Amino acid sequence: MSIMNITYLGHASLSIQVANKNIIVDPFITANDLAKNIDINSLKADYILVTHAHQDHILDVESIAKRTGAKIISNFEIVNHYGTLGIDGHPMNHGGSWQFDFGKVTYLNAIHSSSFPDGSYGGQPGGFLLETAEANVYIAGDTALTMDMKLIPLQAKLDLAILPIGDNFTMGIESALIAAEFVECDRVLGYHYDTFGYIEIDHQKAKEVFKNKGFDLTLLDIGNSIQV
Ligand code: NI
Ligand code: MN
Repeated sequence: MSIMNITYLGHASLSIQVANKNIIVDPFITANDLAKNIDINSLKADYILVTHAHQDHILDVESIAKRTGAKIISNFEIVNHYGTLGIDGHPMNHGGSWQFDFGKVTYLNAIHSSSFPDGSYGGQPGGFLLETAEANVYIAGDTALTMDMKLIPLQAKLDLAILPIGDNFTMGIESALIAAEFVECDRVLGYHYDTFGYIEIDHQKAKEVFKNKGFDLTLLDIGNSIQV
């Protein structure tokens, strides 16, 4: 039985192995003190998924893409931006799906903002639904709780929801729990927490809040993995 392997690289950064492909999500590693044990030069990448253009999601995109030749999957504006740097990409927009060699990707709505660090326009922020032979996973990106999440289970039965829980810039613990209910997935991987003072959380309390409603919240140590 094949599986999807997901490694937490800190903040909102993930490394996913599925269908013999390596997918990096929102790499922000070299400026994250908590992720200093991650060697970005050791990361393999066939694709880099970018949810939006904020620095804490794109910092290491260029270096990883140039070293590995990975293709960027993101919104039209972000793919265009990296195209001007000579990096290959696949542009998408909200509601659109595309069948890649590892599975189907849909770019979903997120309620947030998406400017590049220099203030230029980074399109509208999003999240990703991955539908693969191994597992169906929702990567929410930076977002508020939104009613649009209720549309996701109409498209796919999720095996895992990856949700921001750090509050202040995104959903916090309580709204992430409601999001898990909206997307009808009792297995949640939390991300986008602890990196900065604004988003530090109490891990034990967060897990209890989920457990009390019958949901399982995983908070991985940086560098550790889960299988789906
Ligand atoms: Ni953001
Ligand atoms: Mn962020």
